[in-house]
Amino acid sequence: MESNAVIESIMTTRAIRRFTDEPVLDAQIEICLRAAQQAPSGGNVQPQSYVVVTDPDVKSTLGRWYRAAFDRYERTLAEVTEFRDEAQAESWRRGVAASRHLADHLAAAPALVVFLMARIPWTPRDDHGEMDIGRLDASVYPAVQNFCLAARALGLGTALTTVIRIHTAEVLAELGVPEDRFEIAALVPVGRPAGNFGVALRKPAAAVTHWNHWGDRRPGF
Ligand SMILES: Cc1cc2nc3c(=O)[nH]c(=O)nc-3n(C[C@H](O)[C@H](O)[C@H](O)COP(=O)(O)O)c2cc1C
Repeated sequence: MESNAVIESIMTTRAIRRFTDEPVLDAQIEICLRAAQQAPSGGNVQPQSYVVVTDPDVKSTLGRWYRAAFDRYERTLAEVTEFRDEAQAESWRRGVAASRHLADHLAAAPALVVFLMARIPWTPRDDHGEMDIGRLDASVYPAVQNFCLAARALGLGTALTTVIRIHTAEVLAELGVPEDRFEIAALVPVGRPAGNFGVALRKPAAAVTHWNHWGDRRPGF
Protein backbone atom coordinates (compact mmCIF):
# COMPACT_ATOMS: atom_id res chain seq x y z
CA MET A 1 0.00 0.00 0.00
CA GLU A 2 2.71 2.48 0.97
CA SER A 3 4.38 2.04 -2.41
CA ASN A 4 1.52 4.20 -3.71
CA ALA A 5 2.93 7.68 -4.41
CA VAL A 6 0.09 9.58 -2.73
CA ILE A 7 0.26 7.48 0.44
CA GLU A 8 4.05 7.85 0.46
CA SER A 9 3.69 11.66 0.27
CA ILE A 10 1.18 11.69 3.12
CA MET A 11 3.30 9.40 5.30
CA THR A 12 6.36 11.62 4.87
CA THR A 13 4.63 14.97 5.36
CA ARG A 14 5.69 16.43 8.68
CA ALA A 15 6.52 19.81 10.17
CA ILE A 16 9.51 21.23 8.27
CA ARG A 17 10.97 24.26 10.07
CA ARG A 18 14.43 24.59 8.49
CA PHE A 19 14.72 25.63 4.86
CA THR A 20 17.45 26.03 2.27
CA ASP A 21 17.90 29.34 0.40
CA GLU A 22 16.52 27.80 -2.78
CA PRO A 23 13.62 29.93 -4.02
CA VAL A 24 10.10 28.60 -4.35
CA LEU A 25 8.45 29.41 -7.67
CA ASP A 26 5.15 31.26 -7.68
CA ALA A 27 3.92 28.52 -10.04
CA GLN A 28 4.61 25.91 -7.33
CA ILE A 29 2.68 27.91 -4.75
CA GLU A 30 -0.17 28.24 -7.24
CA ILE A 31 -0.35 24.45 -7.68
CA CYS A 32 -0.55 24.05 -3.89
CA LEU A 33 -3.26 26.71 -3.64
CA ARG A 34 -5.32 24.98 -6.33
CA ALA A 35 -4.98 21.76 -4.33
CA ALA A 36 -6.02 23.65 -1.17
CA GLN A 37 -9.12 24.92 -2.95
CA GLN A 38 -10.23 21.34 -3.66
CA ALA A 39 -10.56 20.61 0.07
CA PRO A 40 -14.00 19.91 1.52
CA SER A 41 -15.91 22.47 3.59
CA GLY A 42 -19.24 22.47 5.38
CA GLY A 43 -22.00 23.21 2.87
CA ASN A 44 -19.17 23.97 0.41
CA VAL A 45 -18.98 27.39 2.12
CA GLN A 46 -15.20 27.70 1.45
CA PRO A 47 -14.48 30.33 4.10
CA GLN A 48 -10.75 30.51 3.32
CA SER A 49 -8.63 33.16 1.61
CA TYR A 50 -4.88 33.24 1.27
CA VAL A 51 -2.19 35.89 1.45
CA VAL A 52 1.08 34.69 -0.09
CA VAL A 53 4.01 36.67 1.25
CA THR A 54 7.31 36.64 -0.63
CA ASP A 55 8.29 40.31 -0.20
CA PRO A 56 11.34 40.35 2.15
CA ASP A 57 10.13 43.42 4.07
CA VAL A 58 6.69 41.98 4.72
CA LYS A 59 8.21 38.59 5.64
CA SER A 60 10.50 40.39 8.04
CA THR A 61 7.60 42.14 9.77
CA LEU A 62 5.66 38.88 10.03
CA GLY A 63 8.80 37.22 11.32
CA ARG A 64 9.08 39.76 14.15
CA TRP A 65 5.45 39.24 15.18
CA TYR A 66 5.84 35.47 14.94
CA ARG A 67 8.89 35.56 17.19
CA ALA A 68 7.12 37.77 19.73
CA ALA A 69 4.16 35.39 19.73
CA PHE A 70 6.34 32.31 20.04
CA ASP A 71 8.45 33.83 22.83
CA ARG A 72 5.31 34.45 24.84
CA TYR A 73 3.85 31.01 24.09
CA GLU A 74 7.16 29.25 24.84
CA ARG A 75 7.24 30.66 28.37
CA THR A 76 3.96 28.87 29.11
CA LEU A 77 5.27 25.47 28.08
CA ALA A 78 5.90 23.16 31.00
CA GLU A 79 9.12 21.21 30.72
CA VAL A 80 8.27 17.63 29.78
CA THR A 81 10.47 15.19 31.63
CA GLU A 82 8.64 11.88 31.38
CA PHE A 83 8.80 9.99 28.12
CA ARG A 84 7.72 6.55 26.98
CA ASP A 85 11.21 5.83 25.68
CA GLU A 86 14.34 7.54 24.37
CA ALA A 87 12.91 7.79 20.85
CA GLN A 88 10.00 9.86 22.16
CA ALA A 89 12.34 12.03 24.27
CA GLU A 90 14.60 12.67 21.28
CA SER A 91 11.63 13.48 19.05
CA TRP A 92 10.35 15.99 21.62
CA ARG A 93 13.78 17.67 21.98
CA ARG A 94 14.13 17.92 18.20
CA GLY A 95 10.65 19.43 17.92
CA VAL A 96 11.37 22.06 20.56
CA ALA A 97 14.67 23.03 18.93
CA ALA A 98 13.08 23.17 15.48
CA SER A 99 10.21 25.34 16.74
CA ARG A 100 12.70 27.75 18.28
CA HIS A 101 14.68 27.80 15.06
CA LEU A 102 11.57 28.63 13.05
CA ALA A 103 10.67 31.42 15.47
CA ASP A 104 14.15 32.91 15.01
CA HIS A 105 14.25 32.47 11.21
CA LEU A 106 10.68 32.64 9.92
CA ALA A 107 11.44 35.47 7.49
CA ALA A 108 14.17 33.36 5.87
CA ALA A 109 11.59 30.93 4.51
CA PRO A 110 11.15 31.61 0.78
CA ALA A 111 7.39 32.07 1.16
CA LEU A 112 4.87 32.49 3.96
CA VAL A 113 1.25 31.64 3.28
CA VAL A 114 -1.32 33.15 5.62
CA PHE A 115 -4.58 31.21 5.65
CA LEU A 116 -7.50 33.48 6.51
CA MET A 117 -10.95 32.46 7.67
CA ALA A 118 -13.92 34.71 6.91
CA ARG A 119 -15.85 35.80 10.00
CA ILE A 120 -19.28 34.63 8.87
CA PRO A 121 -22.30 33.47 10.86
CA TRP A 122 -22.04 29.73 11.15
CA THR A 123 -24.27 28.38 13.93
CA PRO A 124 -27.74 27.64 12.55
CA ARG A 125 -30.70 27.94 14.89
CA ASP A 126 -34.32 26.81 14.79
CA ASP A 127 -37.19 26.78 17.28
CA HIS A 128 -35.22 24.32 19.46
CA GLY A 129 -32.21 26.61 19.66
CA GLU A 130 -28.69 26.62 18.25
CA MET A 131 -27.39 23.59 16.38
CA ASP A 132 -23.87 22.30 16.80
CA ILE A 133 -22.84 21.40 13.26
CA GLY A 134 -19.11 21.71 13.95
CA ARG A 135 -16.84 24.72 13.98
CA LEU A 136 -16.19 26.92 10.99
CA ASP A 137 -12.44 26.41 11.20
CA ALA A 138 -13.08 22.72 10.47
CA SER A 139 -13.79 24.02 6.97
CA VAL A 140 -10.40 25.74 6.65
CA TYR A 141 -7.88 23.22 8.01
CA PRO A 142 -8.57 20.61 5.31
CA ALA A 143 -7.43 23.28 2.81
CA VAL A 144 -4.33 23.92 4.87
CA GLN A 145 -3.46 20.23 4.93
CA ASN A 146 -4.18 19.85 1.19
CA PHE A 147 -1.74 22.71 0.63
CA CYS A 148 0.91 21.00 2.76
CA LEU A 149 0.43 17.64 1.02
CA ALA A 150 0.64 19.20 -2.43
CA ALA A 151 3.80 21.02 -1.36
CA ARG A 152 5.28 17.72 -0.16
CA ALA A 153 4.47 16.13 -3.51
CA LEU A 154 6.51 18.93 -5.15
CA GLY A 155 9.41 18.37 -2.76
CA LEU A 156 8.59 21.43 -0.64
CA GLY A 157 8.43 21.48 3.14
CA THR A 158 5.78 23.25 5.22
CA ALA A 159 4.75 23.64 8.86
CA LEU A 160 1.21 24.39 9.96
CA THR A 161 1.56 27.07 12.64
CA THR A 162 -0.98 29.08 14.64
CA VAL A 163 0.86 31.01 17.39
CA ILE A 164 0.79 34.09 15.17
CA ARG A 165 -2.88 34.42 16.15
CA ILE A 166 -1.59 36.05 19.36
CA HIS A 167 -0.72 39.03 17.14
CA THR A 168 -3.65 38.82 14.74
CA ALA A 169 -4.39 42.56 14.80
CA GLU A 170 -0.83 43.60 13.96
CA VAL A 171 -0.38 40.97 11.22
CA LEU A 172 -3.70 41.70 9.50
CA ALA A 173 -2.91 45.43 9.61
CA GLU A 174 0.47 44.78 7.98
CA LEU A 175 -1.19 42.72 5.24
CA GLY A 176 -4.05 45.19 4.74
CA VAL A 177 -6.65 42.56 5.66
CA PRO A 178 -9.83 43.92 7.31
CA GLU A 179 -9.84 42.45 10.82
CA ASP A 180 -13.60 42.72 11.18
CA ARG A 181 -14.02 40.32 8.24
CA PHE A 182 -11.21 37.79 8.69
CA GLU A 183 -9.21 35.94 11.28
CA ILE A 184 -5.97 34.02 10.85
CA ALA A 185 -6.40 30.25 10.64
CA ALA A 186 -2.74 29.40 10.03
CA LEU A 187 0.59 30.68 8.86
CA VAL A 188 2.55 28.20 6.75
CA PRO A 189 6.20 28.75 5.79
CA VAL A 190 7.18 27.04 2.53
CA GLY A 191 10.61 26.07 1.24
CA ARG A 192 13.00 23.30 0.33
CA PRO A 193 13.71 21.32 3.49
CA ALA A 194 17.24 21.73 4.86
CA GLY A 195 17.01 18.09 6.00
CA ASN A 196 15.17 15.08 4.70
CA PHE A 197 11.53 14.21 4.62
CA GLY A 198 10.74 11.25 6.82
CA VAL A 199 8.01 9.41 8.65
CA ALA A 200 7.31 11.27 11.92
CA LEU A 201 6.87 9.52 15.26
CA ARG A 202 3.17 9.01 15.97
CA LYS A 203 0.99 6.73 18.06
CA PRO A 204 0.29 3.56 16.06
CA ALA A 205 -3.13 3.73 14.38
CA ALA A 206 -4.08 0.42 16.02
CA ALA A 207 -3.55 1.96 19.48
CA VAL A 208 -6.22 4.60 18.91
CA THR A 209 -8.72 2.68 16.77
CA HIS A 210 -11.82 0.80 17.92
CA TRP A 211 -13.88 -1.37 15.58
CA ASN A 212 -17.66 -1.16 15.95
CA HIS A 213 -17.53 -0.65 19.74
CA TRP A 214 -15.21 1.33 21.98
CA GLY A 215 -12.64 -1.10 23.37
CA ASP A 216 -12.75 -3.62 20.49
CA ARG A 217 -9.29 -3.35 19.00
CA ARG A 218 -7.32 -5.07 16.28
CA PRO A 219 -3.65 -5.14 17.11
CA GLY A 220 -0.83 -4.55 14.76
CA PHE A 221 -1.81 -2.51 11.75
C1 LIG B 1 -3.26 23.36 14.95
C2 LIG B 1 -1.74 23.31 14.92
C3 LIG B 1 -1.03 24.40 15.36
C4 LIG B 1 0.37 24.40 15.33
N1 LIG B 1 1.06 25.52 15.68
C5 LIG B 1 2.41 25.53 15.58
C6 LIG B 1 3.13 26.73 15.82
O1 LIG B 1 2.56 27.78 16.10
N2 LIG B 1 4.48 26.70 15.71
C7 LIG B 1 5.15 25.56 15.36
O2 LIG B 1 6.39 25.59 15.26
N3 LIG B 1 4.49 24.41 15.08
C8 LIG B 1 3.13 24.37 15.17
N4 LIG B 1 2.44 23.23 14.86
C9 LIG B 1 3.19 22.06 14.37
C10 LIG B 1 3.21 20.96 15.40
O3 LIG B 1 4.03 21.34 16.46
C11 LIG B 1 3.69 19.71 14.71
O4 LIG B 1 2.72 19.32 13.77
C12 LIG B 1 3.94 18.56 15.66
O5 LIG B 1 4.93 18.91 16.57
C13 LIG B 1 4.39 17.32 14.93
O6 LIG B 1 5.57 17.58 14.23
P1 LIG B 1 6.20 16.49 13.23
O7 LIG B 1 5.23 16.37 12.09
O8 LIG B 1 7.50 17.03 12.78
O9 LIG B 1 6.31 15.23 14.00
C14 LIG B 1 1.05 23.23 14.87
C15 LIG B 1 0.32 22.14 14.40
C16 LIG B 1 -1.06 22.18 14.41
C17 LIG B 1 -1.84 21.00 13.86
